[in-house]
Amino acid sequence: MPEYKPSSIGDIATVLHGLNYIISTPTSLKDTVSQLFQLLEIHAGLRKGVLMLRDPITDRLYIEIAFGFTEADLHSPLFDFIQSINASIMESEEPYANTLDKERIQGLSPELKKLSLIGLPLAMGDEKIGTLSVLCKSECEPDRDGTRHLMSIISIFVAQEIKLKRLVESEKEALKQENLLLRDELKSRYNIHNMIGNSNAMHQVYESIIQVAHSNATVLIRGESGTGKELVAHAIHYNSPRASMPFIKINCGAIPESLIESELFGYEKGAFTDAQDVKLGKFEAAHGGTIFLDEVGELAPAVQVKLLRVLQEKEIERVGGLYPIKVNVRVVTATNKDLEQELIEKRFREDLYYRLNVFPIFLPALKERHADILLLAEHFLDKYTKENNKIISRISSLAIDLLSSYHWPGNVRELENCMERAVLVCKTDTIQATDLPPSLQRVDTTNTHVEGLSYQSMVENFERELIIDALKKFKGNKSKVSEYLNATQRIIGYKIQTLGINISKFKSKSL
Ligand SMILES: Nc1ncnc2c1ncn2[C@@H]1O[C@H](COP(=O)(O)OP(=O)(O)OP(=O)(O)O)[C@@H](O)[C@H]1O
Ligand SMILES: [Mg+2]
Repeated sequence: MPEYKPSSIGDIATVLHGLNYIISTPTSLKDTVSQLFQLLEIHAGLRKGVLMLRDPITDRLYIEIAFGFTEADLHSPLFDFIQSINASIMESEEPYANTLDKERIQGLSPELKKLSLIGLPLAMGDEKIGTLSVLCKSECEPDRDGTRHLMSIISIFVAQEIKLKRLVESEKEALKQENLLLRDELKSRYNIHNMIGNSNAMHQVYESIIQVAHSNATVLIRGESGTGKELVAHAIHYNSPRASMPFIKINCGAIPESLIESELFGYEKGAFTDAQDVKLGKFEAAHGGTIFLDEVGELAPAVQVKLLRVLQEKEIERVGGLYPIKVNVRVVTATNKDLEQELIEKRFREDLYYRLNVFPIFLPALKERHADILLLAEHFLDKYTKENNKIISRISSLAIDLLSSYHWPGNVRELENCMERAVLVCKTDTIQATDLPPSLQRVDTTNTHVEGLSYQSMVENFERELIIDALKKFKGNKSKVSEYLNATQRIIGYKIQTLGINISKFKSKSL
């Protein structure tokens, strides 16, 4: 065991204690090692320090930190000497220790000559990481074991710290890349080009999105349930300069009135009994990005006032907070409520209405954009066949008629669900009328007139409806059906065939 001489390097316990503190504080590698050099400067007579790291690609050493050197020093013969010593330490993995006056270095001042240079390799297992070298006052003679011993402990800590920081950095980088990929995926998923619809009404919607996306204007998206309001809100965000920042959605109708304020604006610790910590609200979470207030028509009057304030002042106040907090958030809202009626009935504030209604976008009901029904149906057919690994290439003309003649109270969402179900139940390569849900099989007699359908199709729908109803009633018994409908069995058989009704479906089940 070498003799341990703490007196030669100052208070070793203090140094180790300080080292422990520095290493346990999460900062960058540069800050950690700079603080370490400062610590050694105070407690161990250090004057200058250099951390050099190995570039894993070129295998060469580069200067990460040069502590205590001026810009001019970096071009001096002393610095050249330190670099060449470090290169050979790296090569041989042998430490170096000597006083500078024993080396031939040009132009050294008398003070510098008195300093000692200690250089150590930094390694983790087989991996050479770099070198750590320090220039100390010569009282801490390099050949005395205490100094060398302390420096070798420090070099192990530094090497570990570098490894750890690199690991964290590479994990961070991987997460960043993953995040970028996910954002790209979201961006393309919510691209306007992914919104289906070729009707004039939808073209107007696309144009509005393009017009407004690049601004910070507040947008109010209106339309019945299931018309695609959320899709539009996403498209606005992902086509805006805020696309790489958060998109935060809050459903104002789904959160109890007592919680909505703290959900939107957050709360301070101790704001109420359960508030044991500060909670960020959705507005703060959306900072730099977009907040989507869905079902904004459901907001309670007290929260409406606060929202108005946020829109006017661009700052929020946490529940129980003393100071307002500035937020930079773009507000997009949606509602399927008749807000004008809500104004008349004094359930919605007029001043807020005007603030929200800066740029309204109207999504038409699906039945009003007849031309889009088939396009959407085919889009969902494609989506769900892929999702379910099925091969279904077309929709039969009878099924198309049913899809076109239905009034779609649930709009695109209902059509999507209907196609998903059809793909699941379909046993051939074609979606048949019988694969569609019962609600579509039943053509409402008050609704047999469907714009865009031929007279022939409307009559066929009505006939299909009559026959399907009777087949259900008599469990597929053709003779009872013909008796019930007052027609011959031959006519009913012919109609069942030409209208593409799958009679076995009614026979197998008790309906
Ligand atoms: N033009 C479209 N192209 C493709 N898919 C659409 C289109 N419009 C709506 N959808 C799909 O229909 C479903 C319902 O849309 P969304 O949730 O945006 O409707 P919403 O108007 O927000 O409904 P709600 O008022 O009930 O919240 C979603 O799955 C959405 O992807
Ligand atoms: Mg919605």
